Amino acid sequence: MSRAHFDYDEAHGREVLRRALADYLGRVRGVLADPTQIVITSGFEQGRNLVCRALAARGAKRIGVENPSYTDWDPIRRTGLEIVPIPVDGDGMRVDLLDKRQVSAVMLTPAHQFPTGVVMSGERRVQLQDWLRRRETIALEDDYDSEFRYDRAPVRALQGLEPERVVYAGTASKTLAPALRLGWLIVPRHLLAEIHREQLLSDMGCPRIEQHTLAEFIVTGEFDRHLRRMRSQYRARRDALLDALATELPEASVEGIAAGLHATIRLPDRYDEKALRPELSRVGISLWYMSDHFVGAPSGPPTLLIGYARISESQIRAGIRALAAAIRATCS
Ligand SMILES: Cc1ncc(COP(=O)(O)O)c(C=O)c1O
Repeated sequence: MSRAHFDYDEAHGREVLRRALADYLGRVRGVLADPTQIVITSGFEQGRNLVCRALAARGAKRIGVENPSYTDWDPIRRTGLEIVPIPVDGDGMRVDLLDKRQVSAVMLTPAHQFPTGVVMSGERRVQLQDWLRRRETIALEDDYDSEFRYDRAPVRALQGLEPERVVYAGTASKTLAPALRLGWLIVPRHLLAEIHREQLLSDMGCPRIEQHTLAEFIVTGEFDRHLRRMRSQYRARRDALLDALATELPEASVEGIAAGLHATIRLPDRYDEKALRPELSRVGISLWYMSDHFVGAPSGPPTLLIGYARISESQIRAGIRALAAAIRATCS
C-alpha cells in the first residue's frame, strides 16, 4: 500500500477490492457487476442492515423472510420494517404467498437455504423474477456459502438474472473467517446513493488494510487455490459426518443438498427435542436446532443443524457416537 492508501477515502470500499470482486463474482457466481456498484461492508449483517434501512427510507413497510431462516430479527425491526415470515418448502421460499402477505421486499438464501439446506428451484426463481418486476421491488440475495457445493457446480446467483431488482450479498465469513468482518453488496444503480448514504451514517467504511489484503489474495489466484483446498477438506468432513450418521443413527435423515458448512439432520417425529437439549448440553455437545430458526411457532420434526467446518473427521465420528448415545438415553 502507498502512503495515499492510508487516508479516509472510498468509504464504500477500496477500488482494488471492488474490481477484484467484480471479476471474481462474475466468473464464479455469474453476477453482473460493475466495480462502482460494489459496496464493501463489515459482513453480511451490516450489508443487510444498510439495505433494510435504505428500503425503509424509500417507504417499504414489510419484508418477507424465509421461515425458517438465519437471522437476528431485531436489527431488521430496528430499521422500521415489519418481518413477514414466508414458508420454505423443498423448492425454496413460497413465492406464491408474497402478494397475499403484502410484503414490499424479500430477503432469501436461494443457492443453499439456511437452515433447511434446499436449493431454490428454477421454476421458483422465474416466479420470483416475475414478482419482483410486477411489484417493482427488491430481493436481498444472501449468498453466504455458495463457494462450497460438493456434488456439482452451484446454481448461479439470482442477481445475474435480475440485476436491477436483486441486491447481492456475499461474505468472507464462510470462505475465510467471520473474524475478518468483510462482506460485499452488489447494488442496483437506482439504490446505490441511498446505500452509500446509509453507510456514511453508520461508519466511515471497513478497515482498508484488510481490503487491500483480500484484493491481493484474490488477484494472485490464492483465493481460488484456498477454495479448492477447503472444498476438498469440507467434502471429506461432510462425508465422514454422513457415514457416521448412517452407522450410529440410521433413523436420522440428512436433508438438503451437499453444500455449505452445516448438515441438516432430521430425527423421527416421535423423538423429544425438549428432553434431548439438556442431555446434549450435559455431555458437552454443542449444535443448533432448526426450531430456533422460526419466526413464530416452530413446525416440523426435531431437526439438528450440525456445523462441520472446524472439526476433524475423527472428532466428527466421536461426536456422532456421543450424539447417538445421548439420543438413545433420552428419545428411544
Ligand atoms: C445464512 C447466513 N448468512 C450470512 C452469514 C454471515 O454473516 P456475516 O457475513 O455477517 O458473518 C451467516 C453466518 O453464519 C449465515 O448463516
